[in-house]
Amino acid sequence: MEVPTDSVEQKSGNASDPGDDRCSDNDFGPSILGTKEYWEEAYQRELETFTDIGDVGEIWFGEESMSRVLRWMDKAKIPEDASVLDIGTGNGAFLVELAKHGYSNLTGIDYSPASVELSRNVLKAEDLTDVPVKLFMQTRRIAGAGVHCVVQRFLHRAELKS
Ligand SMILES: C[S@@+](CC[C@H](N)C(=O)[O-])C[C@H]1O[C@@H](n2cnc3c(N)ncnc32)[C@H](O)[C@@H]1O
Repeated sequence: MEVPTDSVEQKSGNASDPGDDRCSDNDFGPSILGTKEYWEEAYQRELETFTDIGDVGEIWFGEESMSRVLRWMDKAKIPEDASVLDIGTGNGAFLVELAKHGYSNLTGIDYSPASVELSRNVLKAEDLTDVPVKLFMQTRRIAGAGVHCVVQRFLHRAELKS
């Protein structure tokens, strides 16, 4: 089963027409959130906080947005044993939710080394040591390759246009 990689993105798009919730590269201007340096600094801080007090840090876009993606996956009948790739894993909180929801074949990737370390620690604290998180920068070419379902709740697309 091949799931279109942009389906989740489309659902969460910043559309100007409420009847059309697709988004395009032209919908968003440059942002500080679109730099690798920003995420590395942010997850360095969150890694320190997690080490100190066990707080996983920010749940981006809130818990409801994770539930929304999970509902979409249920509706799309993604089987629990489907391979699911979480691109831009951040603190790994969504991988934890996917595992709690029953998904058993999960992988996370992120281009921030601090994020990879944090998410591995967060997964370990949840006894999810069988969920690999790899240091990897997404390019359009890998999207959808060799996995059943790709989830990405935010992605820095700046370098991806070359
Ligand atoms: C808003 S955080 C999202 C964290 C998590 N997915 C969530 O839903 O809470 C965005 C993450 O995507 C990562 N990221 C952004 N662009 C990326 C790219 N091109 N390749 C790999 N990781 C990327 C950042 O390092 C950051 O950890």
